Amino acid sequence: MKLKWESISTLHQNVFLVKVLAAVFITGLAFRFYAVRFGQVSVNEISDPQISPPSVIISENEDLLPIDIEVEKCDLFTGKWIRDPLGPIYTNGSCGVVVDSHQNCITNGRPDSGFLYWKWKPNDCSLPRFDALRFLQLMRNKSWAFIGDSISRNHVESLLCMLSTVEKPVEVYHDEEYRSKRWLFPLHNLTISNIWSPFLVKAAIFEDSSGVSSAAVQLHLDILDNTWTDLFPSIDFAIISSGEWFLKTAVYHENATLVGCHGCPQSSNITDLGFDYAYNTSLRHVMDFIARSNTEGMIFFRTSIPDHFENGEWHNGGTCKKTEPVNEDEVEMKVLNKILRDVEISQFERVVTEMGQEAGHFKLLDFAGMLLTRPDGHPGPYREFRPFDKDKSAKVQNDCLHWCLPGPIDYLNDVILEIIVNG
Ligand SMILES: *[C@@H]1O[C@H](CO)[C@@H](O)[C@H](O)[C@H]1NC(C)=O
Ligand SMILES: *[C@@H]1O[C@H](CO)[C@@H](O)[C@H](O)[C@H]1NC(C)=O
Ligand SMILES: *[C@@H]1O[C@H](CO)[C@@H](O)[C@H](O)[C@H]1NC(C)=O
Ligand SMILES: *[C@@H]1O[C@H](CO)[C@@H](O)[C@H](O)[C@H]1NC(C)=O
Ligand SMILES: *[C@@H]1O[C@H](CO)[C@@H](O)[C@H](O)[C@H]1NC(C)=O
Ligand SMILES: *[C@@H]1O[C@H](CO)[C@@H](O)[C@H](O)[C@H]1NC(C)=O
Repeated sequence: MKLKWESISTLHQNVFLVKVLAAVFITGLAFRFYAVRFGQVSVNEISDPQISPPSVIISENEDLLPIDIEVEKCDLFTGKWIRDPLGPIYTNGSCGVVVDSHQNCITNGRPDSGFLYWKWKPNDCSLPRFDALRFLQLMRNKSWAFIGDSISRNHVESLLCMLSTVEKPVEVYHDEEYRSKRWLFPLHNLTISNIWSPFLVKAAIFEDSSGVSSAAVQLHLDILDNTWTDLFPSIDFAIISSGEWFLKTAVYHENATLVGCHGCPQSSNITDLGFDYAYNTSLRHVMDFIARSNTEGMIFFRTSIPDHFENGEWHNGGTCKKTEPVNEDEVEMKVLNKILRDVEISQFERVVTEMGQEAGHFKLLDFAGMLLTRPDGHPGPYREFRPFDKDKSAKVQNDCLHWCLPGPIDYLNDVILEIIVNG
C-alpha cells in the first residue's frame, strides 16, 4: 500500500479516516482477486498495476508532516533511469555564476542533449520530481553543509541551481582560495555551506591550483580537519564524503609519528601501507567523531561516486563518449572504486551498530550504483569552453569524474528530499 502526498491538509483529523479507507480498499481488492482467481490470495499478491493507490491531498504546511502514516519502505537507491520528456528543472542559463564553468557543459558546447532527458526511478516506488519551493519551506532557518572534495562542490552547485528556480542564493562567504563557500537564501533564511576538506583529516597538500603536485601529501590519519569539525555543531544537515584523494601519493602520520606511506619511492625506506589502510583509519576517526558529537542535526555520509574514464585516466587521455545511460549489467565498478566503497560501508555499518538507537540521525547515501549507470553524464572534453572551435581534432583533457549541470547528479537531490520528507 503506497500513499503519495505532495501536500497535506487537516491531516491529523484525517489520518484515522485514511487508514480506515485504506483498510477497506485493501479488503476490497483482496476480495476482488479472490473472486476472480478462485484461489487462495495472500495480501502480497495484490499488486495489480491497473489499480492506482488512493491519493491523499496534502497542504504545504511543514508542521503537518504525515509522521503517523506508514509508507511502504522503498529502497530509493535501487532502480533504473527512465526516459523523462520533462527534462531538468533548470537550464544552463538559469543558474548564473553558481556553476563552475568546467561543469557547464551546454554552455561549453556539448552538442548532444539526450542525457538530460532521463529520470531516476526506484524499483519499488516513484520518486516525486524535486520541488524547490517545498525544500526551501522545509528548510526555513536551517543550515546545511556539504563537506568533502570537488564532487561535493559539484553536488552543492546542483542543489543551488535547483533551488534558484524559486529563490536566488546570495554568496555570503568564501575562504581565501574560494574553495569553501557559504550561500544564503534570504527569504527563507536557509544557509548552505560547501566546506573544502577532501581528506576530512588534517592534510598538508603541496599542489597548485591546476592539481600539479610538488611533494607528497602529508596526512594525519587521526587528526580531523577542523575546517569542518569547528562548524559541525551548528549544522542542521550535513552531507559528508571523501574518496578519490586518498589514491594520491601520501605520507601517513598517526599519533604524531610517521607510520607509512602510499606510492612513495622504495628508496625512502617507508612502509607502503596502502591507501585503503589510510582511508579506513581516517574514516574510523571521522565516524567516531560523528557518533560522539551528540549533534541534533541529520548527518548523511555519502559513499564515493565512481568515475567513467575509459582507455586511460585524467592525465593520460581517458575519455567517456557515451551519450545514454547503460544497463547495470553493462558496467562494472572499477576495483579502486570498489575498495573505497567497501571501506566506507564497513566503517559506516560499524559505527551505526555501536551507536544503536542514536544512529537514527546518521544515514548513508549510497549513490554509487545509481550513477555508475550514467557514463553519459560527464563533461568529457566539454569541461573547456568550445574546445573544438579552432581545431576539430584538438587533443583536450576529458573530465569523466565530475558531472554536467544540469545532469544526473541533480537526482541526488530528489532522493535526499524524499528521505527528509518520508524518512
Ligand atoms: C546556454 O547554452 C547555449 C548553447 O550552448 C548558449 O547559446 C547560451 O549562451 C548558454 N547560456 C548561458 C547563459 O550561458
Ligand atoms: C535565521 O535562522 C537562524 C537559525 O539558523 C536564527 O538564529 C535567526 O534568528 C534567523 N534569522 C531570521 C532573520 O529569521
Ligand atoms: C525562523 O526564525 C524566525 C526568527 O528567529 C522566527 O520568527 C520564525 O518563527 C522561524 N521560523 C521557523 C519555521 O522556524
Ligand atoms: C602515542 O605516542 C605516545 C608517546 O610517543 C605514547 O605514549 C602513546 O601510547 C601513543 N598512543 C597510541 C594510541 O599509540
Ligand atoms: C634504507 O635502508 C637500508 C637498509 O636498512 C639502508 O642501507 C639505507 O641507507 C636506507 N635508506 C634511507 C634513505 O634511509
Ligand atoms: C578497517 O578497520 C576495521 C576496524 O575499524 C578493521 O576491522 C578492518 O579490517 C579494516 N579494513 C581495512 C580494509 O583495513
